[in-house]
Amino acid sequence: MPVTERKGNTMEKVTVNVKLPAEMQKTEELLSVENLRVSFYTGERKKSRDGKIQIIRGFDIKLDPGEIVGILGESGSGKTVSSSMIMQLIEKDEGTIDSGTISFKGTDLVQADEKTLQKIRGRKIAYVFQDPSLALNPYKKIGRQLTDVLRTHRLPYSRQTIVNALAEAGISDAETVYEMYPFQLSGGQNQRIMICQSILCRPELLIADEPTSAIDASLRKKILDLLISINTTYHMAVILITHDFDIARYVCSRLVIMYGGLVVEEGSLEDILRQPLHPYTRELIACASSLDQHDQLLYTLEGTPVTPYDFREQCPFYARCSRRIEACDTAIPKMLTLGKRKVRCIRHTEAES
Ligand SMILES: Nc1ncnc2c1ncn2[C@@H]1O[C@H](COP(=O)(O)OP(=O)(O)O)[C@@H](O)[C@H]1O
Ligand code: SF4
Ligand SMILES: [Mg+2]
Repeated sequence: MPVTERKGNTMEKVTVNVKLPAEMQKTEELLSVENLRVSFYTGERKKSRDGKIQIIRGFDIKLDPGEIVGILGESGSGKTVSSSMIMQLIEKDEGTIDSGTISFKGTDLVQADEKTLQKIRGRKIAYVFQDPSLALNPYKKIGRQLTDVLRTHRLPYSRQTIVNALAEAGISDAETVYEMYPFQLSGGQNQRIMICQSILCRPELLIADEPTSAIDASLRKKILDLLISINTTYHMAVILITHDFDIARYVCSRLVIMYGGLVVEEGSLEDILRQPLHPYTRELIACASSLDQHDQLLYTLEGTPVTPYDFREQCPFYARCSRRIEACDTAIPKMLTLGKRKVRCIRHTEAES
């Protein structure tokens, strides 16, 4: 079985062949989301549900236990809405699932009742929010917040357990931080604490939504290294949401590319790097930052991202695509399966030309 290994603390990767024991070779699927469509209610009176707009028009993702998959796309492409729907984090009066299935270890989360979802949220699947202020209570000391997580899920807790967990998440002087409030800490420290909080119950899946976007570029790699180490230490599957190809490349083994509320390409990192099939993926690769140099993006995609108000029966990338032809304007391209890869572009065969 080919496994990608990280060499020391560098970006260089080597591929080695690891022979797994027979019982480990066949993995059971951890998560399978198929054809998810999500709408939000519009207007002032959301509860009246008088109008709605479709935000997610086709989201699919599959994960094996211990796998790291990236969801990559520009801001507004639907990464947060689709992934937060996995845990049904959107209030019932805000939005609704129009169709699709979300299977987590065989349980259909779309049909699951609130009690089942509560047992899964935080305990089996954890979500690290982009903005620490959404996850950390400004009025509670860090130690208390983390203890509450274990108490809520009826798991054993002690001061030492929490201090150890903070230290493991890279918090220096964990004893002192235990007694501090979030506002007394830096953005990078709060991000580590959020990650620490999310993995306290040892979930089987961690969803990290742009975990490095609110922190200094120089600390980005350290947070990503923490996610990688959590994945290897606990065999915890990770969905990493990012708009930056270089971040995805550093962490993920497989990528799901999103645009206009749709998955437009999916495949292994290696395949996508070797030959991106969708013109949008090619653009994202061209726009990648450099994690090592901590520089600003040198190049940005031309044009503005499509919004749900512009959605039409055409290729979502039509307005910005240099390869578009008339046929791209007549229907949403179907997702095509090409071996282990998927692409939603009628001109994908010309990707290399
Ligand atoms: N509560 C909401 N009500 C209406 N539209 C929303 C809401 N949240 C997000 N959207 C819209 O849904 C689209 C996808 O948003 P999001 O999933 O947050 O994108 P991403 O995470 O890729 O930046 C965007 O056009 C955004 O404006
Ligand atoms: S279907 Fe057409 S417009 Fe869409 S990405 Fe492919 S070539 Fe471009
Ligand atoms: Mg987002």
